[in-house]
Amino acid sequence: MASAQNRAPKVPVLLCFSIYFALLSLSCSRVCGQSSPVFACDVGSNPALASFGFCNTSLGINLRVGDLVKRLTLQEKISFLVNTAGSVSRLGVPKYEWWSEALHGVSYVGPGTKFSNAVPGATSFPQVILTAATFNTSLFQAIGRVVSTEARAMYNVGLAGLTYWSPNINIFRDPRWGRGQETPGEDPLLSSKYGAGYVKGLQQRDDGDTNGLKVAACCKHYTAYDLDNWKGTDRYHFNAVVSQQDLDDTFQPPFKSCVIDGNVASVMCSYNQVNGKPTCADPDLLAGVIRGEWKLNGYIVSDCDSIDVYYNSQHYTKTPEEAAAKALLAGLDLDCGSFLGKYTEGAIKGGLVDEAAVDKAISNNFATLMRLGFFDGDPSKQLYGKLGPKDVCTPEHQELAREAARQGIVLLKNSPGSLPLSPTAIKSLAVIGPNANVTKTMIGNYEGTPCKYTTPLQGLTASVATSYQAGCSNVACGTAQVDDAKKIAATADATVLIMGADLSIEAESRDRVDITLPGQQQLLVTEVTKVAMGPVILVIMSGGGMDVSFAKNDSKITSILWVGYPGEAGGAAIADVIFGYFNPSKFYFLLLLDDPFS
Ligand SMILES: *[C@@H]1O[C@H](CO)[C@@H](O)[C@H](O)[C@H]1NC(C)=O
Ligand SMILES: *[C@@H]1O[C@H](CO)[C@@H](O)[C@H](O)[C@H]1NC(C)=O
Ligand SMILES: *[C@@H]1O[C@H](CO)[C@@H](O)[C@H](O)[C@H]1NC(C)=O
Ligand SMILES: *[C@@H]1O[C@H](CO)[C@@H](O)[C@H](O)[C@H]1NC(C)=O
Repeated sequence: MASAQNRAPKVPVLLCFSIYFALLSLSCSRVCGQSSPVFACDVGSNPALASFGFCNTSLGINLRVGDLVKRLTLQEKISFLVNTAGSVSRLGVPKYEWWSEALHGVSYVGPGTKFSNAVPGATSFPQVILTAATFNTSLFQAIGRVVSTEARAMYNVGLAGLTYWSPNINIFRDPRWGRGQETPGEDPLLSSKYGAGYVKGLQQRDDGDTNGLKVAACCKHYTAYDLDNWKGTDRYHFNAVVSQQDLDDTFQPPFKSCVIDGNVASVMCSYNQVNGKPTCADPDLLAGVIRGEWKLNGYIVSDCDSIDVYYNSQHYTKTPEEAAAKALLAGLDLDCGSFLGKYTEGAIKGGLVDEAAVDKAISNNFATLMRLGFFDGDPSKQLYGKLGPKDVCTPEHQELAREAARQGIVLLKNSPGSLPLSPTAIKSLAVIGPNANVTKTMIGNYEGTPCKYTTPLQGLTASVATSYQAGCSNVACGTAQVDDAKKIAATADATVLIMGADLSIEAESRDRVDITLPGQQQLLVTEVTKVAMGPVILVIMSGGGMDVSFAKNDSKITSILWVGYPGEAGGAAIADVIFGYFNPSKFYFLLLLDDPFS
């Protein structure tokens, strides 16, 4: 069989290949080769659209939205209540996918955004918990600006949306929460500054149009959410019992600041209940606080399948129509999911909610798209229309990712004579640990494909000669391979141990049950330290806090650094700090003088 195939004449094979590739490129030009952005009011290809008021850019947004809504049938209106929105060809309105993510760089999480040969990667900044540790509000905004530039560039070649469901500003109150890494931490003031800063960076345009949006951000998940899956309770069944004072002092300030100071275009309600009510069905929290007190200019979106969750998992209503009605009556505008698409018509027919509630919701959604220029025709003629693949992963953007990691790294301990190491005096450096040579671990979750990676080992090896032992086969570290690690530490001028966690330890749907280093990591650290010839630098790469008091007490461990999940350039930034090209202690002193919270 094989030999018969091998002897087959060459010409037909070549012909087959050419036909195959011809077909491939044909189908790609229609299906996968989406290289232009999706937009409405394409008067260039359909001049008749120019007569529609909603396409008329000299009218105010409210008039345009009203004009569009009044042209729609009830079924069409309902199709605009869900993230994979409908299309109306007679009005030149194409399908739009609302769900894109950009937590710390343009992400492939969410169906609205993907990478391709045209844009194979985007700048991947440190996971948010590390960026927040810079306490640098202008940096939060600078990162947001870079991310929105890359997002617009990807939109222009048909790879990304205009609406991003980032940032996550939930208070990280319980250090075991698997999603704490996504957040700016546990402090309401810092979280408020982070949220408002990042949102401004994403949204603010460079032409002074203060109602226009570069891209639309979304502050999530409102509210009192900090549990994913912990000892038998998951986020879909979690009822956060919170006093009014704790709500006002702790959980609400970041959202309030995001809406009022950041002027965010969207807020997402969470899966959990607050004091017995699902947040997405709570008129006090949505219509009352977000739109009433804080005056949100934008749309309120559900976490994905939240309505389904409070109907099917929490049994909050008797019928799905009631569940749909409750969401609309509470002030929800957009359903991430399909629930409102299925049950809203029945809810209206059953008299549980009226069509005006649907009109109100889709008006908020359309207004957001109008502020983004989606109804202004050809995007290449608009402010950000010239951005393209050349504007993604630029050297400046990648340098900012490295700078953010440098500024975020926290020096927890430093004994005299330890850091910084001298790159000229150190002739041999032992680099040990399951996170010493990692790539993807450095970008955490809600990630995109990065431009490139510099691992810690690569970063350190750029300055001095290194030897390397992982010491554990993974971060779970069931059995530490202590002997090989001890061997290299015993003869090296200094030892760097890079330990910690990754998404197998802490992630969405994965909370921890303790805060110690996983498995036998502590054993590896203490055994290596006993025999190390030079100073021992312990580096913790993690989102959630780790109890390293054993290392604080061990006088032979001369320095401890926490590096979060430091992003695509994390290894370079770690080396910058270890060799003293960047001084973390001096940095904190300066921050206090500069008063970044002014
Ligand atoms: C757009 O609206 C302006 C202001 O009402 C009006 O003068 C103009 O004629 C409209 N344009 C079109 C194409 O209808
Ligand atoms: C904040 O970050 C920016 C951008 O890297 C930097 O120029 C600035 O010096 C930082 N601020 C402080 C107070 O260090
Ligand atoms: C370190 O990681 C890089 C990137 O994954 C890989 O190319 C290299 O071989 C690794 N180095 C060692 C010594 O294992
Ligand atoms: C560290 O030292 C303190 C003070 O001596 C002691 O109370 C604590 O138990 C020690 N912790 C560990 C983990 O050794």
